Amino acid sequence: MRTFKNENQVKKISIGTLFPTDTILETSFIEEVYNVEAILKISDLKTKFSLNFELSEDDCIYGLGENLRGINKRGYQYESFCSDESKHLPGKTSLYAAHNFFIIHGKTNLGVYIDFSGKITYDIGFSSTDAMSILVAGKDFDIYIYEGSLNEIVKQFRTSLGMNYVPPKWGFGYQQSRWSYENADIVNEIASGFEVYDIPCDAIYLDIDYMERFKDFTVSDERFPHFKSFVSHFLEKDIKLIPIIDAGVKIEADYDVYEEGIKNDYFCTDSEGKPFVAAVWPGKVHFPDFLNPDARKWFGSKYQFLLDQGIKGFWNDMNEPAIFYSEKRLKETFEWLKAHENKNLDIYSFFEMIEKVNGLSNAVEDYKSLYHKVEGEPVNHYDVHNLYGYNMTRAADEGFKQYDDNQRVLLITRASHVGMAKHSGIWTGDNHSWWEHLKLNIQMMPSLNMVGFLYAGADTGGFQDDVSPDLMVRWMQFSLFTPLLRNHSALGTKMQEPWRFEKKIRQQLRDVIRLRYAFVPYLYSEFMKASIEFNMMFKPLSFEYADSESKAIEDQLLVGDALMIAPVYEQNAKGRMVYLPEKMLLWKASTFEAIKADQFEAVEAGYHYIKADLSELFIFIRPGKLLPLVEPMDRVSKLKTNEFIVIGYGSEKANYALYEDDGESFDFKAGKYNISTLEVDQNQVVTSNNDGHIIKTSFLF
Ligand code: GLC
Repeated sequence: MRTFKNENQVKKISIGTLFPTDTILETSFIEEVYNVEAILKISDLKTKFSLNFELSEDDCIYGLGENLRGINKRGYQYESFCSDESKHLPGKTSLYAAHNFFIIHGKTNLGVYIDFSGKITYDIGFSSTDAMSILVAGKDFDIYIYEGSLNEIVKQFRTSLGMNYVPPKWGFGYQQSRWSYENADIVNEIASGFEVYDIPCDAIYLDIDYMERFKDFTVSDERFPHFKSFVSHFLEKDIKLIPIIDAGVKIEADYDVYEEGIKNDYFCTDSEGKPFVAAVWPGKVHFPDFLNPDARKWFGSKYQFLLDQGIKGFWNDMNEPAIFYSEKRLKETFEWLKAHENKNLDIYSFFEMIEKVNGLSNAVEDYKSLYHKVEGEPVNHYDVHNLYGYNMTRAADEGFKQYDDNQRVLLITRASHVGMAKHSGIWTGDNHSWWEHLKLNIQMMPSLNMVGFLYAGADTGGFQDDVSPDLMVRWMQFSLFTPLLRNHSALGTKMQEPWRFEKKIRQQLRDVIRLRYAFVPYLYSEFMKASIEFNMMFKPLSFEYADSESKAIEDQLLVGDALMIAPVYEQNAKGRMVYLPEKMLLWKASTFEAIKADQFEAVEAGYHYIKADLSELFIFIRPGKLLPLVEPMDRVSKLKTNEFIVIGYGSEKANYALYEDDGESFDFKAGKYNISTLEVDQNQVVTSNNDGHIIKTSFLF
């Protein structure tokens, strides 16, 4: 099943048409037909396809969107099969997403997108250091080939995908979450924590406990009485409440969503055509068949229940879909356990037992026994697995547009596929409070941007395990830059709202969050320009600098047009090595209030060890560029976005193209936005147009 429209006239190879029969072929036809220098061989293995590339020693492989390991994916194996993966360990091969786009960056560059909805396995220089081989589990797919510079390749690909999701501007504010703030009193307590400690916050999330026994599109009267007035009380404070919606619909008589789904055949079925029974949070559920347009429309319309109560944003979860167990598998497991109840379990039978019990969740066999109906025909879920979360989120987005077609709604989702980028943003799932996962977050941002997920971020501080104070600070310092800045943690872990920490740490967290608000105009402007121009907001250095050192840098990023960042991501580090591809201005930032000329220092190109206290983060301003900041406020809506403090680096002058729009409608799609140039030179402060921007203070180095 295809998800992609090739509007760009890029090179497309339809495998189904090329190899209609079951013949075994081995050919380097792409090289012949398209004169592509990299060698791609395609073999038809009857049920699977193998694509093989030769890699030169210096080739880097970028891409694969949300996946594990480094910016350069070379040297390991990966899988595209949306997985409810709760331990993102180095030995894992896939996360919640299927983003089958990659670029081979060598003497020439080659971008490849594989439009396929089932499983794909990548071996990128793992079995053999100079080969890349890709196994596609099916024949119904197309390959698109892109050539050009790294930035041109991404642009061509992203243009074909269409404009990425754009959240409301308040979505650039700080967002607080936890599994769970389980009743109205606790949510009130959280909001007042931000007030008492004077920490900015724009949104608070509601996890599964706001619902009545985990039923989608219900609110527990007991936990959240008078929900509508509760929501409006928060809207008066300009705080948005963001409820979760899960993929599974509870099986319960008289529950309207369940009854309607049954009546209209909106649920996925088993091989006999009966609604498939799986279990998730509420116990037994059915999964809506999001590949059926009517079911999609129906599910999308259900969000109205919450929109009507003043809700302005949602997070869609468990939509790989996650399965705790299926009825059938649970029964088999209990039978096995019963049969072995009085046995002496030796090591192998013990392992078998563990495997049976652990294998209850997210079993491939269950996915294989689940069916959709597409144009009246049954389609096995396994073949279209990666489209499930995508279509749940598409349903939500289309539902929002039905409700109000010119109002942006905040939407993030867990499972995703490339085609989904126009419908929502993503959070990167259930990470841990580990330094390694801060690094993973840093390294994942560019590949997410390559496939159109610009509105993205990780659970800041880490979801599982207890966060240490220093990790919380360092993670916040990185998340300062990610469009989605959400602090989220799991049931049973240490509370990690910023004020839960000792005074010194609380102060540092407050300073970083306030800095974030000072950066909002820059971040929003860079996000919107990147969206409109199909560009990336987070880039590896090699996307702008051609030197071989830049190609090897795995832990520094360019953020927008003006900045390079070098986050500290190791415990007890007193600084770090930084590589500068050219001379830049270093700002050791700590608090907005303390911005003073002596915090800035021009640093020569090359490698430097730079010291950093826990309170300091490194921001590098590129030559000729200007960073506009505003005074922090406690909400995005209160920021005075016409009064700037600017920091420029350029001996003569420095400038910045500032994007602005209304921050809430889609009018920007009709060109209703403004791009003005802020410019500072040695002698005077100038704004090059007269649209009311005031530069209150400027630093030019
Ligand atoms: C999943 C989500 C997590 C959420 C939890 C409970 O694990 O990834 O963010 O808090 O479910 O809903």
